[in-house]
Amino acid sequence: MQTDFLVIGSGIAGLTFAIKTAKHFPDKKVTVITKTQSDETNTKYAQGGIAGVWDENKDSFEKHINDTLIAGDGLCDNAIVEIVVKEGPERIKELINYGASFDKQENGEYALGKEGGHSEFRILHHKDVTGKEMERALLHEIATLSNVEIVSHCFVVDLITQHHLGYLVTKSTHNITCFGVYVLNLNSNQIEKILSHTTLLATGGCGQAYRTTTNPKIATGDGVAMVYRAKGRIENMEFIQFHPTALYEPGVSPSFLITEAVRGDGGILRNKDGEAFMEKYDARKDLAPRDIVARAIDNEMKKAGTECVYLDCRHFDKEKFIHHFPNIYGKCLSIGIDVMQHLIPVAPAAHYSCGGIQTNEYAQTSITNLYACGECASTGLHGANRLASNSLLEAMVFAHRAFENIKEQNKNTPNPSIEGEVPDWNALGTSDPREMILITQSLKELQSIMSDYVGIVRTDVRLERAMKRLDLLFTETEELYRTTKVSPQLCELRNLITVGYLIVKGAEFRKESRGLHYNTDHLEKSKLLQDIVL
Ligand code: FAD
Ligand code: SIN
Repeated sequence: MQTDFLVIGSGIAGLTFAIKTAKHFPDKKVTVITKTQSDETNTKYAQGGIAGVWDENKDSFEKHINDTLIAGDGLCDNAIVEIVVKEGPERIKELINYGASFDKQENGEYALGKEGGHSEFRILHHKDVTGKEMERALLHEIATLSNVEIVSHCFVVDLITQHHLGYLVTKSTHNITCFGVYVLNLNSNQIEKILSHTTLLATGGCGQAYRTTTNPKIATGDGVAMVYRAKGRIENMEFIQFHPTALYEPGVSPSFLITEAVRGDGGILRNKDGEAFMEKYDARKDLAPRDIVARAIDNEMKKAGTECVYLDCRHFDKEKFIHHFPNIYGKCLSIGIDVMQHLIPVAPAAHYSCGGIQTNEYAQTSITNLYACGECASTGLHGANRLASNSLLEAMVFAHRAFENIKEQNKNTPNPSIEGEVPDWNALGTSDPREMILITQSLKELQSIMSDYVGIVRTDVRLERAMKRLDLLFTETEELYRTTKVSPQLCELRNLITVGYLIVKGAEFRKESRGLHYNTDHLEKSKLLQDIVL
């Protein structure tokens, strides 16, 4: 198959890019690939909302920039922060024009929310199901465009580069070029190749590397792992954000999120003795940036030997709570927690990858003709810790910038000279998997290694141990990959092991504690500000 624009991922990043490109090039074909149903994305589960300076009388770009820089703990790229904050509101308006609806007050103005690290109310939301509403609006808009095809249940296995044409490609090869991808079509169970002059990776996060995560099953870091295998640049993977307040529900995966907006509206964290402990840790109390709140909770749990702390919403007005947080209210009630009477048990869970595929201000990766945006990309916006609700914004801003770049360069013609040269997938020597347990058990091991040794608090010894164990998993899984027919489960395991390796390697290189990376053997911040590029 050949297409003009190939998009991997149907979350906010991929769909935004696809809509813009399809509208601008009505005679060109845009193909969006997604590994399960088209709406099964991290985007769909976003709760709190999308940050943006909406009311310039009360808020300002400077304040949003400053909040982002403070959360990022010295490692944000200032120019990128300015781009995202200043271009963000335009992108949000486009989303509204596609039909996304955000909550309003009685006077008709938008009801703006507040979350940790924000100095002003600036978060647009749709109840506590903002992502679902955005995904709906984007898919609805896509459906009006006849030159976009969404191919669901199609798993991208690898990027096609010169390597597949028989050339030696190493990290120092100049001009590594992407010609398209190999995909496992889950309908036919065949590996096919899709060629395209322009490919955009919008494959989302990697929360599934951890035992407890808010991320759905699809979040397995496939894009990051594919780029690493293709010898592209990955950076800052050590900065994994743990959301402070996932509902504590043992055995349930992924964890249900209790949005930070609940604390924005006045929710109070309490330990098992009922103490409102956040005031001991930070003057901003429950609304301190996420890294601080998650570490404080981790500390309280370790001190008390408990597996959760509690979020107190008993003082809320019932009508108002249900109006803003109907999904949370319903979920809690379904497991016997009436938030007006009971405390909500919560614990931190892996939530967001701040690092990823290194990109520039136009979402270009280190690989020619390959763009990346959304959670899989590392743009420089988040630095060492993402400010809440900046992620959906970033995805839209860089999807737009990738589109602008393509428009300007008019890179819209497929590369026919390559077509005959790219070999078909070689499955020689592989057979059907005999025991799926080899894959499922290794996945559990990986998640345990990452949660036990590479979580909120790290030490040199824990990182060393994690690396040794990952090494064994890597060897066993590569052997399986060489001898077994490719399946999504096997590819995801392989990708998560690569992601785990990149997180640990980044953490080992970073000899300091900064933002989300906290190592008790290196508590000081280094004077040298640097990105860890792998
Ligand atoms: P996603 O929306 O995750 O989409 C990834 C796409 O890539 C999917 O379509 C998937 O099928 C596809 N894909 C991946 N690998 C492959 C492959 N190998 N082959 C084919 N397809 C593939 N951020 C905010 O700013 N505000 C919030 O309120 C907020 N709340 C959140 C709440 C939760 C519970 C979670 C989990 C995240 C939240 N975030 C929030 C973060 C935000 O939702 C994500 O960072 C963002 O939605 C990522 O969008 P994306 O387009 O990059 O990827
Ligand atoms: C939340 O609603 O608390 C999540 C917001 C985010 O991850 O940005």
